[in-house]
Amino acid sequence: MNNLNEPPNWNIRPNSRADGGDGSKWNYALLVPMLGLAAFRWIWSRESQKEIEKERQAYYQKTAAFQKDLEAKYHAVISENRRAVAQLSLELEKEQNRTTSYREALISQGRKLMEEKKLLEQERAQVMKEKSQLQPLRGAYLSCLEEQEDWQRRARLMLQEVGEALAERQRIYCSLVLPRRARLELEKKLLVRASIDPIAADLEMAAGLTDIFKRDTYCGDVWNTNKCQNGSLMWLYLKYWDLVVELKKFKSAEKIILEK
Ligand SMILES: *[C@@H]1O[C@H](CO)[C@@H](O)[C@H](O)[C@H]1NC(C)=O
Ligand SMILES: *[C@@H]1O[C@H](CO)[C@@H](O)[C@H](O)[C@H]1NC(C)=O
Repeated sequence: MNNLNEPPNWNIRPNSRADGGDGSKWNYALLVPMLGLAAFRWIWSRESQKEIEKERQAYYQKTAAFQKDLEAKYHAVISENRRAVAQLSLELEKEQNRTTSYREALISQGRKLMEEKKLLEQERAQVMKEKSQLQPLRGAYLSCLEEQEDWQRRARLMLQEVGEALAERQRIYCSLVLPRRARLELEKKLLVRASIDPIAADLEMAAGLTDIFKRDTYCGDVWNTNKCQNGSLMWLYLKYWDLVVELKKFKSAEKIILEK
C-alpha cells in the first residue's frame, strides 16, 4: 500500500521486490494516472468535440454565406460577361456587315470601273482603227483639195479674163460708134478659147457664150460709166460659172471619198 504522506510512486522503475508477488502494487500505481489521463482525455475530447462542432457550425455558416455571396457574384459576373459577349458579338456582326457592305461596294465599284475602262479601250481602239483607215483617205482628200485649188485658181483667172472680154464685147455692142466687126472678132476669139481651154470645156462655156451673143441685148444708160449696167445675161452666166467652179471643187473631193 502507498503511504498517504508520501507521494505516490510514479516511478515506473521496476524494483527488485516487485518481481515476487507484489505485481498488483505496480499495476495499481500505474492505473491511477492512466485513469486520470483517460478521463481528461474523454472530457477534453468531448469539450473539444463541442468546440469543434461549434466552430464547424460557425465555419459552415460563414462559408455558406461566403459561398452564397460568391455564387451571387459569380452569377453576376457570368451574366455581365454574357451581356458583354452578346454586345460584342452584335458589334462584331455590325462591323462585319459594314466591312462586308464596304467590300461589296468596293467590288461593285471596281467592277464598274473595269467595265468603263474596257469600254473606253474599245472606243479608243475603234477610234484608232478609224483613224488609221482615214489616214490615207485624209491624205488623198488633202492632195485632191490642193489640186482642186490650183484648178480653181486657174478657172477663176480664166473667168475673170472671159468676163472682161464679155464686158468689152457688151461695150462695143452698146456703143453707137464702135464697129460691129470688132465685136464679132471678139466673139469668135471667145468661142475659140472656150473650145480649146480645158477648164472652159469643163464648164461647157461655149454653149453659154453662144447664148449670150444671141440674147444679151441689154444696154444701160448712154452716159453710164459702170460696165455692170451694160449687159444682163452675161453677168448671170459669169455668176453661174463661178458657182460651178466652186461646186466642182467639192464634187471631186466627194468623189475621192466615195471611191475609197
Ligand atoms: C447583318 O447582315 C445580315 C444579312 O445581310 C442581317 O440579317 C443582320 O441583321 C445584319 N446585322 C446587323 C447587326 O446589322
Ligand atoms: C454702156 O452702154 C452705153 C450705151 O448704151 C455706152 O454709152 C456706155 O459707154 C457703156 N458703158 C460701159 C462702161 O460699157
